Amino acid sequence: MELLDLIKSRKSIRKYKKQSITLEKIYSVLDAGRYAPSGANQQPWTYILVTDTTLKQQIRKEAEREETKYHKTAPSPLKEWFKKQGITPAKPFLTDAPALIVVASDTKAPYWLESTWISIAYILLQAENQKLGTLTYTPSDTAFLNKLLNIPNHYSLVAIIPIGYPAETPTTKTRPRKPLKQIVHHNKYSLK
Ligand SMILES: Cc1cc2nc3c(=O)[nH]c(=O)nc-3n(C[C@H](O)[C@H](O)[C@H](O)COP(=O)(O)O)c2cc1C
Repeated sequence: MELLDLIKSRKSIRKYKKQSITLEKIYSVLDAGRYAPSGANQQPWTYILVTDTTLKQQIRKEAEREETKYHKTAPSPLKEWFKKQGITPAKPFLTDAPALIVVASDTKAPYWLESTWISIAYILLQAENQKLGTLTYTPSDTAFLNKLLNIPNHYSLVAIIPIGYPAETPTTKTRPRKPLKQIVHHNKYSLK
């Protein structure tokens, strides 16, 4: 697929088939992630591939506990958006997806967060290229993951990416983008 078509076709997937995926496919996705640019080429990202059923259940339980707290205190516009998108504290994708890529980053590295998000973008696109669905799930509190997965304290959890075959087909209509003319300025910022 043309790169731009691939970029446009990727959508966040929150419903997964329980169908397994080969390790070879997952590794090709992770391989893309490590080619991202990074501050001083420190490559601060680390990927923890979770496929163990019990571990996935533990992650879901802890995440849902945090989400329930968060949804009660979230700012009103976010609450409204959650409602519109049908996003609740339930996170079935954490157990339905055959694998979770837990992305953590070394906070001692310069620009660790920015670099790691670029790495995540590469992961999402290579997954799309393999016809696999993904989501960048960012739990409201992440300390439980350091504990559960033995992640050293100087690594910060950046996102959990469920990966698997999609059981939904969201469209651009439900995930609109701002038109180019609204976000592009020539030479100087101009009021639109
Ligand atoms: C930094 C970041 C954090 C996100 N966190 C969550 C999340 O915690 N839960 C979730 O369901 N989606 C999350 N998303 C996905 C966005 O909601 C989604 O990308 C956006 O609504 C556009 O939809 P699309 O990805 O299908 O184009 C996150 C995306 C980004 C980039």
